[in-house]
Amino acid sequence: MPSGDTNVEKRDRVQADWDEAADHWAQWEPNIHNLLWPVSVRLAAGARLRAGMKVLDVGTGTGDMALFAAEVVEESGSVVGIDLSEDMLQTARDRARVLGLANVSFEQASGDSFAAEGQSFDAIVGRFSAFFFPDVVAGLSHLRTLLKPGGRASFSLWTPPEVNPVFGIPRDALAPFTEGQQEADAFNPFRLSGPGLFATAMKDAGYADVTDEEVGLYQFAPGCDAYWDILVKVSTSFRKQYDPLSEQNQKALKQSVLEQVSKHETNGIVRVPARARIVTGI
Ligand SMILES: C[S@@+](CC[C@H](N)C(=O)[O-])C[C@H]1O[C@@H](n2cnc3c(N)ncnc32)[C@H](O)[C@@H]1O
Repeated sequence: MPSGDTNVEKRDRVQADWDEAADHWAQWEPNIHNLLWPVSVRLAAGARLRAGMKVLDVGTGTGDMALFAAEVVEESGSVVGIDLSEDMLQTARDRARVLGLANVSFEQASGDSFAAEGQSFDAIVGRFSAFFFPDVVAGLSHLRTLLKPGGRASFSLWTPPEVNPVFGIPRDALAPFTEGQQEADAFNPFRLSGPGLFATAMKDAGYADVTDEEVGLYQFAPGCDAYWDILVKVSTSFRKQYDPLSEQNQKALKQSVLEQVSKHETNGIVRVPARARIVTGI
């Protein structure tokens, strides 16, 4: 992303990326849901979700975390899921309807400026979303104003590709084709992924008792071709670097990724290890 862009332009680009990904996220939703179980559980524990709470899910996307939270807070509680992308929210609303959940609602809004119409929340969760804020500290600081006194906020992000094969494999495979340009040009979702970096942003934003822990999980797929399909469609950062390549390079890149991914295949099921970070504060 060019460095001269204003925050509004950056947010518009993030929104366009996710609008474009929305159909693919709807298609692969069961896979994403199962992949991220360990993260959802840790976020709920970090934010100490329990019956009766009013919860905000920031960057809810297709609503997975919000729907999970709505079950945890039971009918006496409620959840609001917000996202930049109306197209992602469409799936979230459809899923809430299928589940018959009446205590969850979804609205299009940016987490770093959500007005909340005077509401305040017992807890805030954000699963792989807050690092997309153009100004992360300002966004986290704004969210803190929406928390009731003593309320907890818990956010997840990915650990760096060096220790996170789900992202390390595509990054290494991309390197010969992008001549190291990817991190300079693309919006880099890993800029706060190292130990303590997001936690420092939380502290700078005014949160206290900040904790930073890692959780292991697996990206899985029914075979290498399905794994490739998920990677190229669901990962906005990968897609942005893959799309501009020539057909020949796209083929070579696929081959290079699948050579590594196939090492994680057993009986037709691919399970590639991933590591996430959960950062929580009050
Ligand atoms: C990686 S997806 C995660 C979706 C969902 N939380 C999950 O874990 O399944 C990131 C989501 O954050 C949303 N997002 C990015 N920036 C945002 C912002 N400033 N405010 C609200 N949502 C945002 C995107 O539109 C996208 O739906």
